[in-house]
Amino acid sequence: MKLTQRKGGIESAPKGYVRIAFTQKPKGTKHLVREKGVETLELGIGKPEEMNLRKFRILCRAVVQAAKANKCKKIALQFDATPKLFANLREVAPEERSQLAAENFEMANFEFNHFKTKPKEGWDAVEDILVYGETSPSIEKALRKGQLIGEAVNACRVLANTPGGDMTPTLLARAAKDAMKRLPVKVTVLGKKEMRKLGMGAVLGVAKGSTQAPTFTVLEYKGAKGAPIVLVGKGITFDSGGLNLKPSASIYEMHMDMSGAAAVIHAVALAARLKLKRHIIGLLPAAENMPGNEALRPGDVLQSLSGKTIEVLDTDAEGRLVLADALTYAKQLKPAAVIDVATLTGAAMSALGEHASALLSRDDAFARAIEESGEASGDYVWRLPLWDEYEERVKGTFADLKNVPGGATSRLGGAIDGGMFLWQFAKELNCPWAHLDIAPRMTAAAGDELAKGAAGAPVRLLIRFIEQWPSP
Ligand code: BES
Ligand code: MN
Ligand code: ZN
Repeated sequence: MKLTQRKGGIESAPKGYVRIAFTQKPKGTKHLVREKGVETLELGIGKPEEMNLRKFRILCRAVVQAAKANKCKKIALQFDATPKLFANLREVAPEERSQLAAENFEMANFEFNHFKTKPKEGWDAVEDILVYGETSPSIEKALRKGQLIGEAVNACRVLANTPGGDMTPTLLARAAKDAMKRLPVKVTVLGKKEMRKLGMGAVLGVAKGSTQAPTFTVLEYKGAKGAPIVLVGKGITFDSGGLNLKPSASIYEMHMDMSGAAAVIHAVALAARLKLKRHIIGLLPAAENMPGNEALRPGDVLQSLSGKTIEVLDTDAEGRLVLADALTYAKQLKPAAVIDVATLTGAAMSALGEHASALLSRDDAFARAIEESGEASGDYVWRLPLWDEYEERVKGTFADLKNVPGGATSRLGGAIDGGMFLWQFAKELNCPWAHLDIAPRMTAAAGDELAKGAAGAPVRLLIRFIEQWPSP
């Protein structure tokens, strides 16, 4: 998408550009007017006194969605054409507003068309946006940065949306390599043999029921010396549940169970593209969870890379198994901090609905920094407790740990149990650690003004977090 900052008022927009006119009408009101050769698309923003950054992001997306619906390829807009409407945002720096606008324009312009025949008239994407108002080199820079962020989110959505048959662990590793082309990021892919040699019994165990071999991909961007920030992404390329097979209603979108890995891939690529002065390592444990003849059985015991043994009470709690080995692998990298990102539990969705990922951490300052990056970026998170009181449940009966702390039929605190299981491995890291259960944000929710399918969380959060931590 072409996105240009123009000096002055929207009246000077050239012919052929549909002008966006913001009004005080209720949010969602859209209306295309043609008058004297000028086309105007009216868009209600709701009550100006209720405007805030959360609403502003959605409004930017609504602009693009309305333009697409009306087949407007070129649009012009000026947020402060009616200053009263945006008075609430006066305190926000113009650079910040521009970056957010660019991010959200890009995100709203995205559709997952890869498997559709292109219509003769082409896709309804917006091609050109002129933003009128102040200009400056720093505003221009913020726009470009926002576009790069939006593009990274969309690239993450492409990977996550890709069907399971076209996104096996081997293809995910290849996608990671492709994403790093022409970027200073080193990509290393461990295969089954290497994983066996290392002793990654948990990843290998999950992969046993599938004809697809597991992979373990390591991404390294060294924009600075010193201890790395390690990002771990769950890469289950299809989660059938294994022998604890999922019912039809739950199995459908499980090709997106590698959304954590997709987000880590594009957060690392984006950090490199933005030339951030940080050392970042991404770890992508990837496997397909299938109920083949060799599959894990409920009751099987796995020996993880850490040496700890795990009783598999439910083969559908596979994400925490592959993450366990990745967290142990992270230890030898002597990390400054570790964040894992995973579509880990349906329970996180029961707890939080569709608008926030669950955040679990034992480090309050670290958790607070992540919460702030969430609020600032639009990838919202909400913290759940990880208190000692919950720890007793993870102890195994016939092994060191059990993969479902509450027992195979537990309906209590499933997102916390997932986090507490991971903590058994993360506690060995001796550095701040957080777990983001992004199951609630795996797909776009009603009101997001985004295309159906993957939402691309939490690429925006991760990049904001990396930029500000440790605060200089
Ligand atoms: N990938 C799922 C969790 C999930 C569900 C993500 C819905 C996104 C949308 C995960 O592997 C899983 O199956 N979790 C189980 C855990 C249970 C067996 C303890 C769940 O949530 O039911
Ligand atoms: Mn599962
Ligand atoms: Zn899963």
